[in-house]
Amino acid sequence: MAKHKTPLLDQLESGPWPSFVSDIKQEAAARAKNEKGVQYQVAVDCPDDLLGVLEMSFTDGETHWKHGGIVGVFGYGGGVIGRYCDQPQMFPGVAHFHTVRVAQPNGKWYSTEFLRSLMDIWDLRGSGLTNLHGATGDIVLLGTSTPQLEEIFWELTHNLNVDLGGSGSNLRTPASCMGMSRCQYACYDAQELCYNLTQEYQDELHRPAFPYKFKFKFDGCPNGCVAAIARSDLGFLGTFKDPIKINQEAVAAYVGGEIAPNAGAHAGRDWGKFDIQKEVVDLCPSKCISYEGGKLIMDHKECVRCMHCINTMPQALRIGDDRGVSIFCGAKAPILDGPQMGSLLVPFVEVNKDDDYQAIKDIVEAVWDWWMEEGKNRERIGETMKRLGFAALAEAAGVPIDARQVQEPRHNPYIFWKAEDVEGGWERDLAEFRKRHQR
Ligand code: HEM
Ligand code: HEM
Ligand code: SF4
Ligand code: SF4
Repeated sequence: MAKHKTPLLDQLESGPWPSFVSDIKQEAAARAKNEKGVQYQVAVDCPDDLLGVLEMSFTDGETHWKHGGIVGVFGYGGGVIGRYCDQPQMFPGVAHFHTVRVAQPNGKWYSTEFLRSLMDIWDLRGSGLTNLHGATGDIVLLGTSTPQLEEIFWELTHNLNVDLGGSGSNLRTPASCMGMSRCQYACYDAQELCYNLTQEYQDELHRPAFPYKFKFKFDGCPNGCVAAIARSDLGFLGTFKDPIKINQEAVAAYVGGEIAPNAGAHAGRDWGKFDIQKEVVDLCPSKCISYEGGKLIMDHKECVRCMHCINTMPQALRIGDDRGVSIFCGAKAPILDGPQMGSLLVPFVEVNKDDDYQAIKDIVEAVWDWWMEEGKNRERIGETMKRLGFAALAEAAGVPIDARQVQEPRHNPYIFWKAEDVEGGWERDLAEFRKRHQR
């Protein structure tokens, strides 16, 4: 028997999509039964009270969480998002309802053994509810009390060998696409680079030292499966410099209808017979492909590596062998001064595991040195870039100015010069001028 009446939420149990309401009810019922005899460390009916407070919010159209909440574990300045219900008498099970961010493996590959052990900890010391995963990437353990935080942290680190994720004005939890683990488009080992930088910058992740938050994301190629260009202050996108590899026999097989275009992604609808001219050649943004006499020809110097042709004929076209990453800077959500996607800072840099990715770390650290000094309080690096100029960022990062860093040149003539670049500098004598020009 449910603790609270939830007529509005009950409506969300119908329909084909997996219902979060049914799932929470299931967890509430399992805790009430307690077949394993767990000595629950937070209220047994915590999930019931969560449904109760949520139903109340559905009824009156307002949130019932108090403002803010500052909790955590010793040694760290972030990792836990504190939260308190504003109706604690009515819903004591969620009077404290803190969220714990737990560092996830890249590509989010798990063994059932790990997940079971994690859930054993969470059943005992938390609500039994989670978010798999937070938008930044973390495993999110949803709802526990303050006294349980150090207990959970002890068990995570000592028994599971896993750390907390990031929160606050620091490096947040980095994330990558699945990369080489199961994608033939991956231009570098995105998971490995993500893991390496996460370990390298643990201090920056656990103890806030920045003007504001900062995120890394790693896409293996420009398709952007982890959306690095939209959701990270420094986004890493794999690419390659040499020609796309063409298998002409496989091209013929696509043209002959033996292989479905886009690996069958549009099979749900009849788009007619595959037309290589219409679906590949004419759609190339660089117009650098032609198909003549049964042969696909590419002018690779004009190719912008948009991935369209490769995505359409994955069995015929392959990424090149001279691979690396492009680095984009400044993506952010609208607050304060408007949304930004990453701007191309470094067109191409090698991904060299043998020297521990030094070339990439040099850029990361130079960018941080600049922003940590120059960034205003709660100013994302994208905003610092707007305020002080892209050139200032590039100079600080030690990155040469390159035509590829602009979509188009400026059209206004408000151009600043450095005094040393102007003959005679800025110190001028008005009397000298007046000798030649009367007032
Ligand atoms: C051939 C005639 C003129 C030209 C080519 C001219 C050009 C300009 C330019 C380029 C600016 C912008 C400067 C900047 O933003 O850095 C400016 C600003 C201004 N001009 Fe003129 N102007 C002319 C005549 C006038 C006249 C006749 C007046 C007033 C009666 C005037 C009043 C102003 C004012 C108030 C500003 C704004 C100053 C500021 O924003 O600090 N201008 N003018
Ligand atoms: C009490 C009278 C006036 C006041 C308080 C006033 C105030 C201002 C202010 C605050 C600006 C903006 C400056 C900036 O944003 O940089 C401005 C711009 C300007 N005003 Fe006036 N103004 C007055 C009268 C006039 C008159 C009479 C003229 C022309 C005959 C004029 C022409 C301009 C021009 C051309 C600009 C520049 C616009 C631009 O930079 O794009 N103003 N004025
Ligand atoms: S971003 Fe590219 S490499 Fe990574 S999973 Fe997506 S398609 Fe594959
Ligand atoms: S990757 Fe894009 S730009 Fe390059 S040849 Fe293919 S479609 Fe054209």
